[in-house]
Amino acid sequence: MYSKHFEHVDKLIKSLENDGAFLVVEDKNKKANLMTIGWATVGMVWGKPVMSVFVRPVRYTYDLIENAQNFSVCVPSAGKLKEELVFCGSSSGRSVDKIANSGLSFIPGHLKDTLIIEECKLFYECHILERTFLDPKTLNEDVIKNYYPSKDFHAVYFGEIKHSYTRE
Ligand SMILES: Cc1cc2nc3c(=O)[nH]c(=O)nc-3n(C[C@H](O)[C@H](O)[C@H](O)COP(=O)(O)O)c2cc1C
Repeated sequence: MYSKHFEHVDKLIKSLENDGAFLVVEDKNKKANLMTIGWATVGMVWGKPVMSVFVRPVRYTYDLIENAQNFSVCVPSAGKLKEELVFCGSSSGRSVDKIANSGLSFIPGHLKDTLIIEECKLFYECHILERTFLDPKTLNEDVIKNYYPSKDFHAVYFGEIKHSYTRE
């Protein structure tokens, strides 16, 4: 009965195509950070419900997720937390502690080393099964031209959706 994890995917996609959602990562040393994401996919892989997120290696979040087992994706109610999404999508955890300064509240998720954002509405907690990079050798030319002029190809993390839920 994995289909329950996909019940609210329309809300996730709407937020991705509008103001974004939050990717929250805590690494093995308990260093935590969050950033705004506009790209994610969801579906069935390896017989499991999986969400993949795309993180450019220049992001501070990349440094942390490379040393993490899990991540969470937290989705605000439609049209909410716009300022926070802009802040987390334009400042880096390298120069500002976004956990302390975003105005958001963080509480532990169900998975080890996972935080979720209290002010959000919809949550996915994912356990990383695969880490890979987009490969310029096989990537569509137009995609390279439009998205990777600096050749900073995204790292992609496939996470098994272990918990998905909504909160009032
Ligand atoms: C709406 C929006 C969507 C974004 N989507 C992504 C994304 O999917 N992947 C990515 O690597 N960066 C994305 N970014 C950029 C990062 O959120 C931004 O560079 C952020 O400051 C990185 O923070 P960090 O250095 O603390 O990791 C997005 C930014 C915005 C505003």
